Amino acid sequence: MFALFAPLVLLFAVATSAHADSAAPKLANVTVLATGGTIAGTGATSTTTVGYTAATVSVQRLIQAVPELAKVANVSGEQVFQIASENMTNEHWLTLGKRVNTLLAQPNVDGIVITHGTDTLEETAYFLNLVVKSRKPVVLVGAMRPSTALSADGPINLYNAVLLAASPEAAGKGVLVALNDQIQAARDVTKVNTSTLDSFRTPELGLLGYIQGSKAFFYRQPVRKHTTESEFDISALQSLPNVEIVYGYANVGPVAVDAFMAAGAKGIIHAGVGDGSLAAKVVPALKAARAKGAIVVRASRVGQGILARNGEANDDELDFVVADTLNPQKARILLMLALTKTNNSKEIQRMFYSY
Ligand code: DGL
Repeated sequence: MFALFAPLVLLFAVATSAHADSAAPKLANVTVLATGGTIAGTGATSTTTVGYTAATVSVQRLIQAVPELAKVANVSGEQVFQIASENMTNEHWLTLGKRVNTLLAQPNVDGIVITHGTDTLEETAYFLNLVVKSRKPVVLVGAMRPSTALSADGPINLYNAVLLAASPEAAGKGVLVALNDQIQAARDVTKVNTSTLDSFRTPELGLLGYIQGSKAFFYRQPVRKHTTESEFDISALQSLPNVEIVYGYANVGPVAVDAFMAAGAKGIIHAGVGDGSLAAKVVPALKAARAKGAIVVRASRVGQGILARNGEANDDELDFVVADTLNPQKARILLMLALTKTNNSKEIQRMFYSY
């Protein structure tokens, strides 16, 4: 008797299953690229939140520690580096940027999360913002407490970063930084505290949105060009031009500028006091650097605000470039990439007003 109904039962089972499958949303494929940092760090005790060892936990263990990831994406992991991010180099950036572009060109990769030390996270994020050739989400994430700490922030930060990278709303917004339930833009976010959980801020220009209850909420989006709008291409690059940063302060002299030029710098970022003011004792050294063909960019150590062209110095006469609102470490990144395209100071100034 059952044999009579068996085909009907089977048909119903298949139909139900198909309906169930069609009802269940297809999860995005997100690749986690691990580079090290505190998010992969370990301390001697659960209360060790300083004096721990960064870059010790593997990407597989980071993923295994958050089984909830499987609810928001199909996650795979790659250990690209295992370093404390103060040791990040131009060569690391080129390797990482090329790997990101290779992965995002694959139709079965919907987004990328990069776990990273927080010390230079903003720099890697901005570099990728200028060289990634895809609208797919790329999200950088770190942690302020090591994985072994009480109330470690790494697991929830990683969960939020993966769900953000799996969110269609995150596409086309440039490289994003996600810590502390906040979504910030690579161009403007910066680390403002040595150790607290809310260390990543976009003080005046504002964050892009929040992650709350396993959902991403956007309230604004970046204005400056990024990713697919960028003119910079690293695919054939094996190195980046040598650009260094000199710091401005009371009583500063020309030694640092002269030393960097003697070491072969092709660009100098001057992190000046105030609106990028140049001490009289430094101007001759910067002029000499320009005369040797180096590009000089006036930035500010202050952190916020527009660096006014022809304000505290006659940039037209000196043939200097101004950094607009980029902090010195990000101005360095843009100048390095600009120098892969041109040595023309006016073209480079256009780039600083575009990205
Ligand atoms: N050594 C620092 C780094 O790897 C630790 C800070 C952190 O990752 O939060 O950036």
